[in-house]
Parts: sequence; structure tokens; C-alpha cells
Amino acid sequence: MSKLSRRGFLKLGGAGVAAGAAAVAPGAALAKTENRNPGATTLPYPNKVVAKAKSLPHNKPVRFNYPDELSPCVVIRMGYAVPGGVGPKKDIVAYSTLCTHMGCPVSYDPSSRDFKCPCHFSVFDTEKEGQMVTGQATENLPKIRLEYDAKSDSVTAVGVDGLIFGRQANIL
Ligand code: FES
Repeated sequence: MSKLSRRGFLKLGGAGVAAGAAAVAPGAALAKTENRNPGATTLPYPNKVVAKAKSLPHNKPVRFNYPDELSPCVVIRMGYAVPGGVGPKKDIVAYSTLCTHMGCPVSYDPSSRDFKCPCHFSVFDTEKEGQMVTGQATENLPKIRLEYDAKSDSVTAVGVDGLIFGRQANIL
């Protein structure tokens, strides 16, 4: 067994510290690149006209797909202004209908005006931008960003706030 000189010991200690620093560095880099907007994408969202505002029934969901044919959504005219609502009365909202827990299709309940998931009973608030109220889900229901054109009375989907279940990015 060879004796370790003081200088050698210090060199080893220095190397250990350097190795420790190297082990921490990737984590720090990861924190810097952490995605704080899970629905964000660098690819452009399509613009898709989903309804004429006047033709939408009150408190009844109308189906459409967005941002592609594999993503079911509904648009609802609530009948009174709600946060994030568009249209003449700021009462039109739209959501993905895939539960954020495990992707089951959620159903709109017109009496309580929320979305209910039949699989594990998560509930999402339609009047509060898809906020998760109760159940197994931990994320809000993705909200479809809408724009309203008063001239043509068109309601157009232009983006998604939140990550659609089962995707790494909303635009595939
Ligand atoms: S899939 Fe909706 S609560 Fe589990």
C-alpha cells in the first residue's frame, strides 16, 4: 500500500470537488431549460373557424377538432360573460374534451355547467377556464384560445392553453 502525500491528498480532494461540481452542472442546466408552459410550441397553431356565434345554442356543447383531427374539443355559449370568453357577450369558451388524468373523454353537464370525467370522477370548471375542481387529474382542462370577428360573426380557434392529454406538444 503506498502512502499518500499531503499534496496528493489535496489533489484527490480537489478532483472530488471538481467531480461534484460536474455532477451538479447538468441539473442546473436542466432547471434553466425547464418548460414552464407545457402547451407551448414553436410550430404555428392553425386558425380554424369553429362556429358562427349567433348559431351556437346556449349551454350546449358543439363538437369540433383542434388543432388536428385527433384532438376532440367542444365550444360552448354559456349565455353570460365568463373569464376568457369571446363573442358579443364574452360568453363563448372552448376546451379539449380529453381528461388530463388519463385521457378519458369528459362530458359537459349543463345543470352544473362543468365537465365530468366518467373514469375517475375528475371535475373541471367551464366558467373558470377549465380549472380542475376535484378528482384524480392534477392539470386544468386545456382551453382552446378563441378569437371573434364581429363582421363575419365567426369564432375561430387560434391556439391551446395547456397540454392536450397524451402529447409532448400540442402540434405534432
Ligand atoms: S381519466 Fe379522467 S379522472 Fe382519470
